[in-house]
Amino acid sequence: MSTIIDGKGLALKLRSKIKEEVSQFKNEGHRSPHLAAILVGDDGASQTYVASKERDCQFVGFESTVHKLPADTSEQALLDLISSINATDSIDGLIVQLPLPKHMDASKITEAIDPRIDVDGFHTISVGRLTKNEDTYISATPFGVMMMLAEYGIETKGKHCVVIGRSNIVGRPMSILMSRGGYPGESTVTLCHRYTQDLASHTSRADIVIVAVGIPHFLKGDMVKEGAVVIDVGITRVAADNQKGYALQGDAEFDTLVDKCAAITPVPGGVGPMTRYGLLFNTLKSYKSKIIQ
Ligand code: GUN
Repeated sequence: MSTIIDGKGLALKLRSKIKEEVSQFKNEGHRSPHLAAILVGDDGASQTYVASKERDCQFVGFESTVHKLPADTSEQALLDLISSINATDSIDGLIVQLPLPKHMDASKITEAIDPRIDVDGFHTISVGRLTKNEDTYISATPFGVMMMLAEYGIETKGKHCVVIGRSNIVGRPMSILMSRGGYPGESTVTLCHRYTQDLASHTSRADIVIVAVGIPHFLKGDMVKEGAVVIDVGITRVAADNQKGYALQGDAEFDTLVDKCAAITPVPGGVGPMTRYGLLFNTLKSYKSKIIQ
């Protein structure tokens, strides 16, 4: 019997803990934690993500501010807004939703965020600290996956972990976290990507497979060994005959994997809610660093 990892339920439990903590701080007379988000343009998925981040903030008692800018906003105007938010002491976290319009240099924008409020963990300083296993903001998805492994008590020490996808947001930090010291971690990691030859020869030897490529049903049952743990980071919108007009599909072909795996995350309801929790966790971490002297 395989375990279906309930990311949604776990995130709700962890979010409720944050809510309690926030309420305690407020009872002691402190201000609310505050997350600011900048959304440039009108990408549908980005709008949905930012709206859900706003709802999460509301749930836990954070203040949230969303700056919605038109797609033709100049890069300088965005940099100016980031500077003004950086200088506002009562803002604990700032995220700029990606992707950005093509005329903007996402790397330049990410580097403009003060690392002290870089709750996405995308700044070079945050990534550098992560690489050196120093205290930092770990980007929300890899953080959520690590929390999930820890909460489910999944053994990672000495295990072979295959990460598929080498994006800055997920695959690369994931590969570092899984091999760093402590728990979860201590795994032997293979990082696979688009030029990996004979991918199945790697995945079929893995104890843990983390797939983050953005291609629905990319990882199939015949590519993993019996008893593997599969973490599915993909959430692709595919056209569907429902009210929304789309459904979310993961990178793992759940139906062919589920009976073979020791544990697997579903989509939706797996990694996605844990990612959202990761952002709340980082914002609270920043807040606490200011409030608790
Ligand atoms: N786009 C896709 N995922 C993310 C995320 O975690 N943070 C931001 N800022 N943009 C994203």
